[in-house]
Amino acid sequence: MNRPIGFFDSGIGGVSLLPAAEALLPFESICYIADHAYSPYGEKPLNVVLNRARVITEKLLQFNCKLIVLACNTATTQIIDQLRAEFPVSFVGIEPAIKPAAIATKTGKVGVLATKGTLESELFHQSVTEHGSGIDIVPQIGKGLVTCVEGGKREDQATKELLKSHLAPMIDKGIDTLVLGCTHYPFLIKTIRQILPTGVTIIDNSQAIANQIQRLLEKEKKLAGKDSVKKRQFYSTQKENNLGLFTSAPVEYLPL
Ligand code: DGL
Repeated sequence: MNRPIGFFDSGIGGVSLLPAAEALLPFESICYIADHAYSPYGEKPLNVVLNRARVITEKLLQFNCKLIVLACNTATTQIIDQLRAEFPVSFVGIEPAIKPAAIATKTGKVGVLATKGTLESELFHQSVTEHGSGIDIVPQIGKGLVTCVEGGKREDQATKELLKSHLAPMIDKGIDTLVLGCTHYPFLIKTIRQILPTGVTIIDNSQAIANQIQRLLEKEKKLAGKDSVKKRQFYSTQKENNLGLFTSAPVEYLPL
């Protein structure tokens, strides 16, 4: 039986991880839950994010998922340790890619665009201490950006102005590397590139996450074989949502 890999995020952000994961693991089934009813997570208190993550993890386990990808920086940086302690399943999380950015930068100045929850988390600060020594990290809360992506306003003038105001302090400081520390932000990459000076490297860790999923499935001997029937299932906790625009697959309403 081809048990699915579970993915979840506050909304459509985690879908930005799927192309790399599905290209690397073409036989794997996917079961994705977007928690639109509680989106965005970025400014929510930690206990709300934790409770939602518990409810969704339970549902993904009921769906027989063999591995869970916490496709959300905000949740990973705040609560992944707790989920690992509570549930009998392996989790793959995503957090701002400080280490590759510290290796890539030549000016020693790295911007990190992420949510409030992520930038204020202990895990983020630990990662900066561990991998960013000697590097000037310029953090910026991407306030309002998740709502722009969810609302289908990726290329609107208002979104561009908002992005400009968030990126300006980093550009002024002379960053040559930008970390996208929220899975929603890769959907804004076209506009981000229009604003950044040429030559700024954008770090997106979807390939690293795909590799990590593969490593874990291999280790646990859970990789789907060539003859498995691949299924892609998408759910949202809110009836009205734009998830289908990003998945080219039907989306079911899942009240949780
Ligand atoms: N996409 C998520 C992240 O990576 C959540 C953003 C939000 O809901 O604020 O942080």
